Amino acid sequence: MTPALLPQFASRVLPVIVISDVSQAVPLAHALLEGGVDVMEITLRHAAGLAAIEAVAKHVPQMLVGAGTVTHSDEMQRVKDAGARFALSPGLTPQLVQAAQACALPFVPGVMTPSEVMIAREQGFKLLKLFPAAQAGGVAMLKALAGPLGDVRFCPTGGVSLNNMAEYLALPNVAMVGGSWLTPLDLIEQGQWSRITELARQALAAN
Ligand code: 3PG
Repeated sequence: MTPALLPQFASRVLPVIVISDVSQAVPLAHALLEGGVDVMEITLRHAAGLAAIEAVAKHVPQMLVGAGTVTHSDEMQRVKDAGARFALSPGLTPQLVQAAQACALPFVPGVMTPSEVMIAREQGFKLLKLFPAAQAGGVAMLKALAGPLGDVRFCPTGGVSLNNMAEYLALPNVAMVGGSWLTPLDLIEQGQWSRITELARQALAAN
C-alpha cells in the first residue's frame, strides 16, 4: 500500500515541541505562524501532547500540526482523531507502518542506517527523519547516503541548530530540518511568544 502523502506546507524548518500545559498550544502556534513557520511537531513526550495537538488543530487551522514521538502503534489512530495531519517517529517498525496505513495518516518514520532507509523505501516512504542526525554522522552521513540511496529525502533532527541548519538544507537530499531550538521549554512555560516568533524568523532568514 502506498503511504498517505504529506500535506503541503511552506516552512523547511520543523519545530519539535514538548508542551506541558495545553493552554500554551494555541498561543505557541500563533507565535510560530507570526514568524513564518506553518508546520509544527507536538511530541507525545508529555501527557499534554495529545490535547495540545487537538487544540491547535481546532483553533489554528492554518497551522499544519503533526504528532511527534509516536512510538506505539495504538497512538497512530489517537493522534489522527486529535487532528494531527501527520505523524513522525524516531524509528520505524512494521506495526507503526501498518497503523499509519490503516488510518491513512501521512507518516515520517525515523531511520539512521542504510538498511533502515532501504526498509522504509520498500514501504513506499520518500521522506524520512534522520534521527539522531548529529550522532548518525550529520551532514557527512547525508552526503554518503545520497550516492546509493539518492531517491529519498530526509528531515534530519537531533543536534540541528541555527548555526548548522543552512549546511543541512543546502544538501539536495534534505527536504527540511527539525529541532527543539525554536521552541525552548523555558520560553514556552514563561509565555514568551514574541521571543519564539523571533527565533522562527531567524531560522527562516538563515536558510
Ligand atoms: C527530536 O525529538 O526529534 C529531537 O530530540 C530534537 O533534537 P534537538 O533537541 O537536538 O533539536
